[in-house]
Amino acid sequence: MSEEVPACGLPFVVNAPGKAILFGEHAVVHGRTAIVLALDARTEVGFRGKAGGTRTVYNGSTELPRANPYLQEALSRHPSVGPLDLYVRSGLPQASGLGSSAAFTVSLTAGLLALEGGASRLRLAEESFRTERGAQGVGSPVDTSAAVAGGVLAVGAKTVGDRLWELPGTDGTALWSVARLPDPGWTWVVGFTGVAKDTATVVRRVGERLRAPDGPQLLDQIESVSSRGARALLARDRREVGALMNENQRLLLELGISHPRLESLLKSVGEHAVGAKITGAGGGGSVLVLPKEGEEVLAGRAISRVGGVPFLLRVAASGATLVPPGERPQARGAPSASQAG
Ligand code: MEV
Repeated sequence: MSEEVPACGLPFVVNAPGKAILFGEHAVVHGRTAIVLALDARTEVGFRGKAGGTRTVYNGSTELPRANPYLQEALSRHPSVGPLDLYVRSGLPQASGLGSSAAFTVSLTAGLLALEGGASRLRLAEESFRTERGAQGVGSPVDTSAAVAGGVLAVGAKTVGDRLWELPGTDGTALWSVARLPDPGWTWVVGFTGVAKDTATVVRRVGERLRAPDGPQLLDQIESVSSRGARALLARDRREVGALMNENQRLLLELGISHPRLESLLKSVGEHAVGAKITGAGGGGSVLVLPKEGEEVLAGRAISRVGGVPFLLRVAASGATLVPPGERPQARGAPSASQAG
């Protein structure tokens, strides 16, 4: 599924990667540039067949779909498909800042489009963004873009890297350009605090913070970090990428999105990290660490010692992938009860 979502009949599975934001979270909601890594931990949605009754079955239950706004929003865009029997498995913890809702939304949307005869990748990117935004109420296309395209992406008003597509905001005012940057091939360490974050609440709080007189200046400083970050990635300059992560972290503290558990994880990796920062909305969720070369495992252990959940991950080379029956699905992780955050 490199360029297109193919047409496919039931049954099949679709999987898509999670993500970690390297630079520019929150600023991207306000039209500045973010750089995002699609991560090789995936969510898989299985399209088993048509549901026997009149309601969609999700993880064996007809009640769970009602509790999942992403599922409801996605299904409402495809009424002609009818009730389905679906399951989700995920290697991504929910509400962790690692893009589990986007990976779920994109996998689901790709499957629904496949059942309706297939679609372009741009259509998948647009619809997935609208569905996630509809379910969440706020946000940029950064997470859904990473799940659709895989790799390393720059998402913002300016084009940085090789442009893939452009996405208009839901209110017609914003326009995000989505472009590809090279993957430097490093192993990244993510530490999940175990504290679930609520993206919509944090995004709204940051929006208020940015209305203060220094708001525009903070956004400009983050934009500058992202554009220097893109150059550092192109040059595969690990030291510079790490230094810019630390600079971004100082600006994120100014936005007020930290949490004592995030501080503790960041402190724990200090001696093993070239750079480390909160990743995603903050207020809980995860940190992203660029470890010193060869110290990936040490950084992961340091995170476990203070009670965090470490993941050693590389960039996912492929975005959303449809796997026809008989081929092996790629998602790792145990089945999860629902995928709502
Ligand atoms: C969430 O992964 C990143 C934020 O910038 C929100 C968004 O871009 O939708 C905090």
